Amino acid sequence: MNRHLEKVFETKEFINENGEIIPIHSETSKDQCAFLQQIIKENKFSKSIEIGFAYGLSTLAITEEVTNNNGSHLVIDKFQNSSWGGNGLSLIEKAGLRDRLEFYESYCYEALPKLLAEGRKFDFAYVDTTKQFDWILVDFFYLDKLLELNGVIVFDDAFYPGIRKALRYISQFPSYKIYSHYPQNRESSFTKKIASYLRHIPKANHLIKDNLIQLDEELSINASCVAIQKIDNDIRNWDWHVDF
Ligand SMILES: C[S@@+](CC[C@H](N)C(=O)[O-])C[C@H]1O[C@@H](n2cnc3c(N)ncnc32)[C@H](O)[C@@H]1O
Repeated sequence: MNRHLEKVFETKEFINENGEIIPIHSETSKDQCAFLQQIIKENKFSKSIEIGFAYGLSTLAITEEVTNNNGSHLVIDKFQNSSWGGNGLSLIEKAGLRDRLEFYESYCYEALPKLLAEGRKFDFAYVDTTKQFDWILVDFFYLDKLLELNGVIVFDDAFYPGIRKALRYISQFPSYKIYSHYPQNRESSFTKKIASYLRHIPKANHLIKDNLIQLDEELSINASCVAIQKIDNDIRNWDWHVDF
């Protein structure tokens, strides 16, 4: 990992381009950044996209790794200057990687369709933005169309109900498989036992909440960070549906 990034994780602060000390918060952890870098490294990904810049910790980790593959990174954040003082950009500049980063200061729902219309393609995406179901689903809708085959999308904060719910749906798409998690998918034999009992109740799918009939852990999304891989183009029928 970049020496500059290691130091920010160690000291929990950095000095921006104006010489001000910026204490960090809301960041992706060091171990999770290493997890993102590992995915990029093992797949030799070089065209990455991210939603949620803040102070730029994950952005720096991703930019560093795609640069090793001679690639570049694109980050979207409506509030980089208004809420974060432009300090994410400052961090990348100070790490010497500004020329490898493209930045869109807009909402994801504005930037993503624009990128699609331009015919852009990416092989890696990291979603670390708002935690609401509808926003995450819209992000996924566009990211799927922007993603190359075999590309990977990583969702942070998958323990938030809105993100977990979106993942319950997305993880059942025939064109995706779970790639990996950080930390691991948590499993419990007790909840599994209850679920297998509930499933056999007549009309269970009408009477019992979906997440009790099919557990998050069985969908392999019971982790705080979930990576999914696009293994096919979207071949679903117009009336395709799964309970989630
Ligand atoms: C948890 S922080 C990102 C942390 C960052 N990934 C890191 O590791 O340091 C979430 C970020 O999402 C941004 N954000 C929230 N809603 C957004 C939206 N609808 N479109 C774009 N960015 C958004 C916020 O401004 C904030 O910078």
